[in-house]
Amino acid sequence: MGEPSNQTNPSSGGAKARGANLVPDGWTSRLGVILAVAGSAVGLGNFLRFPGQAAANGGGAFLIPYFISLLVLGIPLCWAEWAMGRYGGSRGFNSAPGVFACIWRHRFAKYLGVPALLIPLVIYMYYVVIEAWCLGYALNYLSGDLMLGKGADQYGQFFNNFVGADSDGTLFTAGNRSLLWMVLGVFALNFVLIYRGVAKGIESFCKIAIPLMAVCALCVLLRVLTLPAHESGRTLNEALGFMWNPDFSALWKPDTWLAASGQIFFSLSVGFGIIVNYASYLKRKDDVVLSGLTAASMNEFFEVCLGGLITIPAAFLFLGATVGSQGTFGLGFNALPNVFAEMPAGRLFGFLWFFMLFLAAITSSLSMLQPVIAFFEEGFGLKRPVSAALLGLISALGCGFVLYFSKGMVALDTFDFWVGTALIVVLALIQSLLYGWALGIERGAQIAHEGAKLRIPHVVQLMLKYVVPVYLVAIFIASLRQDLGKRIQLIAEDTVVFGSVLFIGVIAVFLTVLVALAGRRWESAGLFDEGESGEGI
Ligand code: ALA
Repeated sequence: MGEPSNQTNPSSGGAKARGANLVPDGWTSRLGVILAVAGSAVGLGNFLRFPGQAAANGGGAFLIPYFISLLVLGIPLCWAEWAMGRYGGSRGFNSAPGVFACIWRHRFAKYLGVPALLIPLVIYMYYVVIEAWCLGYALNYLSGDLMLGKGADQYGQFFNNFVGADSDGTLFTAGNRSLLWMVLGVFALNFVLIYRGVAKGIESFCKIAIPLMAVCALCVLLRVLTLPAHESGRTLNEALGFMWNPDFSALWKPDTWLAASGQIFFSLSVGFGIIVNYASYLKRKDDVVLSGLTAASMNEFFEVCLGGLITIPAAFLFLGATVGSQGTFGLGFNALPNVFAEMPAGRLFGFLWFFMLFLAAITSSLSMLQPVIAFFEEGFGLKRPVSAALLGLISALGCGFVLYFSKGMVALDTFDFWVGTALIVVLALIQSLLYGWALGIERGAQIAHEGAKLRIPHVVQLMLKYVVPVYLVAIFIASLRQDLGKRIQLIAEDTVVFGSVLFIGVIAVFLTVLVALAGRRWESAGLFDEGESGEGI
């Protein structure tokens, strides 16, 4: 890949202004962008969410709906996002409202980009808190404070105290602020990196963090795969069997299919508004087909080969079949510390594990900031210090909200359900319609194949137009039927849930207003005028 692509400041007036107003930011190498997209994808979802979902939904049989979802939804939507992002980038837009408005020349189109700003922003607000848990646990292993002994309840107690799960506001009280400092540190690190920009911040960091993460994960995997039989008589073979022996009856349950597609979305960061933004910094001669496929394959390697072989097998070996029902956090933060307590050199492996989770999390959280930064910059002509400060303020409010309402992790869970689960399916649907019906699959294929050595089979284009939207609507309706009644009831009954939904609503309205204002500036600057929108495809 050659020199960085151009980023423009549309506020300065029209396509002609683009050449005069370049900001030198963008990916500097093909490896860099692949690692950055893979870094966004590989996260807590790979090491905590995936093993829990697989174990609870048929073990090895879960891989059938999982890989079908990957092939039918995940990879096609990734390609669509890469192609649309690069297309928008070639017209001078890096944020979803601008990119979508280039694709569908309709006044309403820019508003379809609001979820693509809301999703990464709100997910960042709780994701960065979990990231701080991981760093906190890694440091507690380093200092030896987390070696609390075998088979004890104190890991659950430690976790509850550390994350403030017993009561609201406790993390802000004197003597109990260790997580608060940790969040501040992690928050600052994210913003320092994002402030440095796409090439010097995100790309440089991912080039170091991803190989380091792979080394840490391989060390832990090697340790797990060489563990002797447990004193209870359980062997590693049985532990792997517990994770991977297929229970085909799970395939008849709609929940298994829902879980598989939800996992694919969360894991690949599809429907997050991130890939569109990252791809917008590419040049027209860059191969988005191969890069997209490579990043997705890297994610699958981390998820199935590393995530799938570490967490549950290790936990089963030491703790038995109860680990299947521990849930994402229970597995990572309660079960595994018990395992490390019993394992030879457990302190070192505990540190490596949580440090690896921290690296996985930070490369993902970084990617959640960039779409909104890009929007502030091109929507209002803000310079990076101002846009970073504004984003810092908004995300700190949400992060503070999650930290304050820590009891039972209700705020975190509410943000995760409404935005991190339901809204990502909506954005994926919007994007599949924009690609398949507004841009059109012929044009989409032409754009995707520019600079590509690999061809996307035509059947994938047909799937994007006809199958993916129907599949997504079906998933959306099924998941709402499953949870919606319960979730709505919670809004009425629980003030923290109500407050969390209200908070999301206020941010959504705020972003919508900003998109309306930015859209006016873009239109008055003539950025969407036909014939001025760059060398068309
Ligand atoms: N894709 C990211 C993860 O798996 C968000 O955690």
